[in-house]
Amino acid sequence: MQQPEYSDKEILRRLYDYTKPYISYWTMAIICMVIVSGLTSLQAYLIKPILDEIFIEKNEVYFAYLPWAIFVIFLLKGICQFFYEYYLNRIGQSMVRDLRQEIFEQIIRQSLSFFHRHATGELMSRIFTDVALIQEAISTAAVGLIKNVLQIVGLVGMIFYLDWRLALFCSGFLAISFLPMVIFGRIQRRLTTRLQRNMGRLSTATHESLTGNLIIQAFNAERFEIGRFSDVLKDVFRNTIAGVKAKSLSSSTVELISGIGIIAIIVYGGGRVMAGESSTGTFFAFLTALLMTYQPIKGLTQINNAMQQGIAAANRVFWMRDHQPEIQNKPHAEILPAFTREIRFDNVRFQYPGGRRTVLQDVTLTIRKGQTVALVGHSGSGKTTLANLLPRFIEAEAGGITIDGMDIRAVTLSSLREQIAVVTQDTVLFNGTVRNNIAYGQPDSPPEKIIDAARRANALAFIEALPDGFDTAIGQSGVRLSGGQRQRLAVARAFMKGAPILILDEATSSLDTVSERAVQDAIDHLMEGRTVLIIAHRLTTIERADVIVVLSEGRIVETGTHAQLLAREDSEYRQLYKLQHTLSDD
Ligand SMILES: Nc1ncnc2c1ncn2[C@@H]1O[C@H](COP(=O)(O)OP(=O)(O)OP(=O)(O)O)[C@@H](O)[C@H]1O
Ligand SMILES: [Mg+2]
Repeated sequence: MQQPEYSDKEILRRLYDYTKPYISYWTMAIICMVIVSGLTSLQAYLIKPILDEIFIEKNEVYFAYLPWAIFVIFLLKGICQFFYEYYLNRIGQSMVRDLRQEIFEQIIRQSLSFFHRHATGELMSRIFTDVALIQEAISTAAVGLIKNVLQIVGLVGMIFYLDWRLALFCSGFLAISFLPMVIFGRIQRRLTTRLQRNMGRLSTATHESLTGNLIIQAFNAERFEIGRFSDVLKDVFRNTIAGVKAKSLSSSTVELISGIGIIAIIVYGGGRVMAGESSTGTFFAFLTALLMTYQPIKGLTQINNAMQQGIAAANRVFWMRDHQPEIQNKPHAEILPAFTREIRFDNVRFQYPGGRRTVLQDVTLTIRKGQTVALVGHSGSGKTTLANLLPRFIEAEAGGITIDGMDIRAVTLSSLREQIAVVTQDTVLFNGTVRNNIAYGQPDSPPEKIIDAARRANALAFIEALPDGFDTAIGQSGVRLSGGQRQRLAVARAFMKGAPILILDEATSSLDTVSERAVQDAIDHLMEGRTVLIIAHRLTTIERADVIVVLSEGRIVETGTHAQLLAREDSEYRQLYKLQHTLSDD
């Protein structure tokens, strides 16, 4: 799948749009952050009066009031810290909620082919992991950026305020100490890329050698494989060691430069104190503020990583958010009126996207109201595909389908699907009660209607025998029910829907004979008075159909009643029929 890349700028703008509704929280959070960073600088400043006034001057007034001032500062800082963390998390979590909701809404409306292309796991990781990564990026990166920059600005301001000469002197040093970080950082990045590539080679080589082990032994190629493995291993080793060297050299150099810096500060700053140009308190307050900048600077260096991950995740999430369903209402789509006359397939052709061959070709078929039309044919002949065209789960490439003369592409999806009930082999039940599964999508249905649907589907007896009757929870996918019971619930659901058109796809093929009987009775009942498109492998279930349509490799090869088709010597239907009867006679 080719995903369009959004530019970083576009991603940031869209992320910003998501935070916009929470602008009042942002304002509160930023105000609190500004206060916190101001108070942090003040904390460093306090060292000055503590040393100068209390320890050196032994000033009683300061001794009495300064502890209170310190208490107030810490209290205020604590309160503001609480509020900004609270507001930021509210923003982050609100975004997570909004994004998940939007993506889910988008995914649930996608067409069938979308779900063929994207594995469930992939879609789930969009909703869970990627959204969480975005939130992470917002809270650590965006917020970290604002918070750390504010703190650095506050502290650097304090440093200059305390002693601007010493501050200028330090800046020079700081610039020099960044140099090795930049140089070694670049070397490290290069080594990391190479290491990742070599690790990939190592894992491929290992995987191949282990899985191909039979061939390796058959060709006496053990030595060759060992040599190949050891070559890659050597590269990985060399790489790793080089990486370790660069990293340690970098930290040792920084350490050394910081040491020299501290000596220089002591010599220069101490000299100024001794000369009476500055006070002891000022010097230590300065030193404290300087050391306190370490934390936010380190924080800044970690932001890039979270930011990159978040942007990559946002790219995937926004792609999904923008992906329009292939099948949706046309502009000015009409409401399909109640079905009265006939369904027509006109020269329908279909090919799955990316599929190599045409799955349906020249399919022309009329189903009159009240008729039962059976589709038969070998596995892969296109029966399910043909049935899926009618509710527009997929769309014909050429030709068209009309209901009472109206093209199904010109009507709204909901008005079309309202008139069609589908019962398939793999019944989909939801984790909930029997009641909610029967009245699926109609939570406010009257209980009598639900009971009636269950009775008609041969399901009332077993439902009433369940521990809580209609309110029994049936477990994920209905695991607490038997296959036949699940099928009967599906039939009850179709009764409940009351749609005039019914599609039955292999509804009884996975069941044994006894449970098949109960399901078959329910289905026979369901078919009464409806227009039915039925697909079944067991020909006995479709002998009574008004029209039998035989599909072969996507083309209709025969149509007629059971008797007509069986009477023809060379008919494919006769062969299918004979095949099954000899098989079941064994
Ligand atoms: N999602 C898909 N993508 C690509 N090809 C598909 C897809 N689904 C089905 N096909 C192909 O389309 C052809 C017809 O499939 P279809 O499911 O309609 O057969 P069927 O007649 O219902 O078979 P069965 O009796 O086994 O259910 C098959 O060759 C199948 O491989
Ligand atoms: Mg099928």
